Amino acid sequence: MEKKFKRTTITSALPYANGPVHIGHLAGVYVPADIYARYLRLKGEDVLFVGGSDEHGVPVTIRAKKEGCTPQDVVDRYHNIIKKSFEDFGISFDVYSRTTSAIHHKFAADFFRKLYDEGKFIEIEKAEFFDSDENLFLTDRNIRGECPRCHSKGAYGDQCEACGATLSPEELINPYNANSGKPLEKKTTKHWYLPLDQYQPWLEDWILGQHKEWRPNVYGQCKSWLDTGLKPRAVTRDLDWGIPVPVEGAEGKVLYVWFDAPIGYISNTKELCDAQPDKWGTWQKWWQDPESRLIHFIGKDNIVFHCIVFPSMLKAHGDYNLPDNVPANEFLNLEGDKISTSRNYAVWLNEYLEDLPGKQDELRYVLTANAPETKDNDFTWTDFQAHVNNELVAVYGNFVNRALQLTKKYYNGIVPECGELTESDKATLAEFADVKKEVERLLDNFKFREAQKEAMNLARIGNKYIADEEPWKVIKADPERVKTIIYISLQLTANLAIAFEPFLPFSSRKLREMINMTEFKWEDLGSNELLKPGKQLADPALLFVKVTDEEVQYQKDKLAATIRANEAAAAKAEPVKPVIPFEDFEKLDIRVGTVLECEKVKKMNKLLKFLIDDGLEKRTIVSGIAKYYEPEQLVGKQVLFIANLAPREFKNGLVSEGMILSAEDFDGSLAVTTLEHNVKPGSMVC
Ligand code: 2FM
Ligand code: ZN
Repeated sequence: MEKKFKRTTITSALPYANGPVHIGHLAGVYVPADIYARYLRLKGEDVLFVGGSDEHGVPVTIRAKKEGCTPQDVVDRYHNIIKKSFEDFGISFDVYSRTTSAIHHKFAADFFRKLYDEGKFIEIEKAEFFDSDENLFLTDRNIRGECPRCHSKGAYGDQCEACGATLSPEELINPYNANSGKPLEKKTTKHWYLPLDQYQPWLEDWILGQHKEWRPNVYGQCKSWLDTGLKPRAVTRDLDWGIPVPVEGAEGKVLYVWFDAPIGYISNTKELCDAQPDKWGTWQKWWQDPESRLIHFIGKDNIVFHCIVFPSMLKAHGDYNLPDNVPANEFLNLEGDKISTSRNYAVWLNEYLEDLPGKQDELRYVLTANAPETKDNDFTWTDFQAHVNNELVAVYGNFVNRALQLTKKYYNGIVPECGELTESDKATLAEFADVKKEVERLLDNFKFREAQKEAMNLARIGNKYIADEEPWKVIKADPERVKTIIYISLQLTANLAIAFEPFLPFSSRKLREMINMTEFKWEDLGSNELLKPGKQLADPALLFVKVTDEEVQYQKDKLAATIRANEAAAAKAEPVKPVIPFEDFEKLDIRVGTVLECEKVKKMNKLLKFLIDDGLEKRTIVSGIAKYYEPEQLVGKQVLFIANLAPREFKNGLVSEGMILSAEDFDGSLAVTTLEHNVKPGSMVC
């Protein structure tokens, strides 16, 4: 990186406070952002790493409704859980705040108001879906209906989860309120729009012309948005959760969550700077001084907001720096399936630490080794185990342990004197210096995955050095030489503590404690004078331990249980059929019948044939419940059946004169409806 900036402002997407954070979040955004922040700090650069919770938006209100609490309750709970998870995983934010803070509300409202006063918005009135009972405009996510593409029922106003199509509510067939099932009408409402079309030429020049170095996935997505042509975007919503639109006549309207959330990066900076001005200076220094560089770490679903919408907002406002780079990641899948908060299909960070306490770096390592930098990647527990056991334990941990154990054995844990260096010693140290350059080049270009691989190569070099030098053999013939071998091995160990600090901060710290290294900086990488002769080291302990087969199986079982629970819930979540008038119900003649006879049907093993006393005569009804009942269980029972259903003929000529009502459980099994006490056969159900 050519050095033309004095400082770097690093932001990482503000996670929605509507659930805990999972490994996808960590892999896609927070671990890379943290590696970068730690790396720059280690180089002595001026860095601000901003995070926070995104607490507005519809998902929060949906969760609150589901849980029967207020949106504030929801965000209070998850903000704390998320914040703790980040602390637990060593994500080294300089500030982690939230968008419900008073500072943020004021800052975002002022930002909107400035754009409003300067005529930067356009006002558009149009008809939107409205629920007159609830007196509520419905957001896309709260509208469901039939998918116009695959015709599955229950598609959302923004997306069909069955076929993946991106939709708008207008496209849904028979749209209804997702919460009540009520059909929707339309009502006119006014909103403020940011006319992105007006920024199109400027964006084309700025991104397509001046930022060809951005990752291909980011550049490509921007190009495709720009090629399609930008349209004005509404920046307000009819909702009662969010930042009130600071304009007269806008009662009941709030800022769109994607308008206020990125401003949260700035207001969180302000909160920090106001609290510690001596340490951090002013927030303007980090956001408006041209010598500050802005980097946004995000996932690919956020690209349009960070590369097109937010920069247009900043441009409209004026005075602000624009992002220098937006290293967005693709998605991480889990055991071949999409991670999903709503389906609870994830490895949640808080649960991970309960199951595998102390193994933060193990997860950080594997997530970086599999970072979805260029394409979606898959996290599997088997792969997790392989990376930990074959790399962290067998390579890095093993080298460090050998170096420290030999020091303890031969020199009581005291760093020995270094004799004359052999060619092999020099070559090994040179290799370390080369790797430093390579790791820097990779980190400067946001290639975290390869950078970590290079760091692991240092440990491999160390292992090879000890294996080649065989100090345990040399000790008898040439004890002086062994001093140098151990000295060099210890310098390599200290080098590893530095090289891995951005990636694996917990084990680096543990290692530094073992070797009593208090001062360290990135520039020291490659040095052979990090630990002075005569220095007493602490007792060695293992840096990493193997992940067992049982631990892996436990995690796999946990995911399998979630999948089963989801299947059951999916059955339950089948949306209620469209509302029908009472007259339609009255057309059904549901009656009570007494089972006189019941038998299996030959060659049709799903079916039972009933002879029913329907109060007037005997009738035959065939029902597909043979898998769940023995015929004799049902004889004498009273059941409900539809008496006026057109007769249905089966392949073998059998005719069913009605239908017995059964309930289908979530697992597909059937239970026949019976009565709480007997009534006369032929009684009507009403
Ligand atoms: O996608 C998300 O999780 C959003 N909450 C990210 C917001 S990033 C920023 F703009 F705050
Ligand atoms: Zn569909």
